[in-house]
Amino acid sequence: MQTILVTGASGFVGSRFVRRWGGAYNILAPSHGELDITDAASVERYFADNRPHVVLHLAAISNTWQCEQNPADSYRVNVSGVKNLARAAALCGARFVFFSSDQVYNGNLEYGLLREDMPLSPCSVYARHKLEAEQVAADESPQSVILRATWMYDAPIEGLPVHANFVENFRRMLSDGTPLTFPVREYRGITWVGEVIEVLPRTFTLPAGVYNFGASNTLNTYETACCYFEMLETSLKCDAMIIPDAERFPDHERNISMSNDKIVQASNGDIFFNTTLDGLRIFLEKQKAGYR
Ligand SMILES: NC(=O)c1ccc[n+]([C@@H]2O[C@H](COP(=O)([O-])OP(=O)(O)OC[C@H]3O[C@@H](n4cnc5c(N)ncnc54)[C@H](OP(=O)(O)O)[C@@H]3O)[C@@H](O)[C@H]2O)c1
Repeated sequence: MQTILVTGASGFVGSRFVRRWGGAYNILAPSHGELDITDAASVERYFADNRPHVVLHLAAISNTWQCEQNPADSYRVNVSGVKNLARAAALCGARFVFFSSDQVYNGNLEYGLLREDMPLSPCSVYARHKLEAEQVAADESPQSVILRATWMYDAPIEGLPVHANFVENFRRMLSDGTPLTFPVREYRGITWVGEVIEVLPRTFTLPAGVYNFGASNTLNTYETACCYFEMLETSLKCDAMIIPDAERFPDHERNISMSNDKIVQASNGDIFFNTTLDGLRIFLEKQKAGYR
C-alpha cells in the first residue's frame, strides 16, 4: 500500500481526501502542531522518519484577504513551506503534488478559457506567492505535479470543515432572505470539491508539470449565480435575490476561467471535470439523493 503524506489534512480539501481515500492508502495526516511546514528541520526529520511515496501538499494560508493583510506570513507558509516540502520530497524520492490556484491568472487580460502556457502577471499577494511556489516546487522537485485549483464548494458535512463558498452563500440567502450580489465583470470556474477528491489519486502518476484542475465556465459569475438560482426552484424571484454588481473589476474584466484540455489529454481522459453548471446540477441531484 502506498504511503501518502497529506499536509493540511484538517482543512477543507484535506479532510475530505482523508475521509474518501483513508482505506485505499496508508495516509499520514499530521496536524499543523505535529508538522509545521515552515520549520525546515522538522520537515526533514518527519520525512526521514516516515518516508512517504507521495506528498499531497494542501497546507496553506488559503484566505486571500489574510495574505493581503500579512504578506510575510503568506510568504512563509505559501512559498517557503512549499520549498521545505518539495526539497524533502525530492530527497526521499517521493512524488510532490501541490495545490496552486486559478488566482495566478488574475492579472491576465485575455478572454476565453485560459491555458497553462500563458504568460502570467498575478496582481494579489496570494496569487503572486502561489506562482512563485509553483516555480520553487518545480526547481526543488522536478517531478512535481502542480494543480491550479478553482474556487470549490460543498454542503456542510458533519465533522468536516467548510468555508464560505458558492453554494453555502445560497443556503444562507435562502435561510435569512438576504439577497446576494455577484460580479458581472468576472469569469471563473467553480467546482464541487467531491469531483476534485474523486480524481486526485489519478494525478499522482501524471507527467510532471502544471495543470489547470477544475471546472471550466464561460458564463460570468452573475450569470452563473442566476442559473444556479433557477436550479434551486424556489418561489423567490431571481431578480430580487441575485443582484448584479457591474462596478467590481473596473479596469479590466477579471477572467480566471481555465481550460482543462491539458489534464484531460495527459491522463488519456481519466481526469475530467464537468463544467461549472453541469457540476452544480449534479451536486444538487446528489443532495436530493441524500449525499452527505
Ligand atoms: N478552498 C478553495 O476553494 C481553494 C481554491 C483554490 C486553491 N486552493 C488551495 O488548495 C489548498 C487546500 O485548500 P483548503 O481550502 O483545504 O485550505 P484550508 O481549509 O484553509 O486548510 C489549510 C490547512 O493548512 C494548514 N496549515 C496552515 N499553515 C500551516 C503550517 N504552517 N504548517 C502546517 N499546516 C498548516 C491548516 O491547519 P490549521 O488550520 O491547523 O492551521 C489547514 O489544515 C491550498 O493550497 C489552497 O490555497 C483552495
